[in-house]
Amino acid sequence: MEIEASKLQQLKLIRKEMTRFMMNYKFGLDEMNTKLKILQEEFQNIHEYNPIEHINSRLKSPESILNKVYRKNIPFSIESIKENIHDIAGIRIVCSFVSDIYMVSNMIHQQEDVTVISTKDYIKNPKPNGYRSLHLILSIPVFLSDRTESVLVEIQIRTVAMDFWASLEHKIYYKYNKDIPKSILNELTNAAEVATDLDYRMEKLHNEMKIVKGANTNEDLSLLQINNEKFHLPSVFLESLLKDEQQ
Ligand code: GTP
Ligand code: MG
Repeated sequence: MEIEASKLQQLKLIRKEMTRFMMNYKFGLDEMNTKLKILQEEFQNIHEYNPIEHINSRLKSPESILNKVYRKNIPFSIESIKENIHDIAGIRIVCSFVSDIYMVSNMIHQQEDVTVISTKDYIKNPKPNGYRSLHLILSIPVFLSDRTESVLVEIQIRTVAMDFWASLEHKIYYKYNKDIPKSILNELTNAAEVATDLDYRMEKLHNEMKIVKGANTNEDLSLLQINNEKFHLPSVFLESLLKDEQQ
């Protein structure tokens, strides 16, 4: 098949534009990953404790971006994709304890060049199926040779138990092609409750340890209450949480 020279030129231009577009998200992801690695290392060295178990990141493939454009029925243009699709760059942070999630979120809020665009707290308000996680959409600057671009990065912060549940739920969702039998749905919601209970039990043990450790080091701990459960966090890490509450 012969393609007109002008058409070919046009396709080449689109490809170049798309490559540049995706590159910015990759840089945004790289920057955010570096920030998180620094926090992780600093924590390990200074506090001899690491609130982050592990971090995964991914760039959405051009194919899934296109699928989402169709699914959300948004205009097909770079501008509209930039505005409407917020998870092209995505990072998942897995923590041991619920209090660690808020501590990590607080540290992200405090980074001067990071703007938190939106927060969805599915821990305080779990989804009906039982899904829990803290979601942040961030805007971070990427410094290029001739300009600065702001890119959005989606961060999901969750405990090991929340992550375990979400991975299985995701697999089941796709296995049944989104039409999950009622009995399995019930089982999943039950399992989410068990995971929540485990998180609270582990947190309690962790709190007891923190109180003993705090008594030894005179660390200033504050009380955070989520759905009647109590969490002890170093006071310095509660600032952004209180700010979010006031909004
Ligand atoms: P999209 O689903 O990405 O269009 O975003 P949204 O506007 O619905 O935002 P939300 O913050 O609710 O979800 C964003 C992401 O969180 C999803 O893409 C999933 O990765 C994850 N997520 C949200 N809900 C669930 C859920 O019920 N189960 C699992 N396994 N993951 C979920
Ligand atoms: Mg998504």
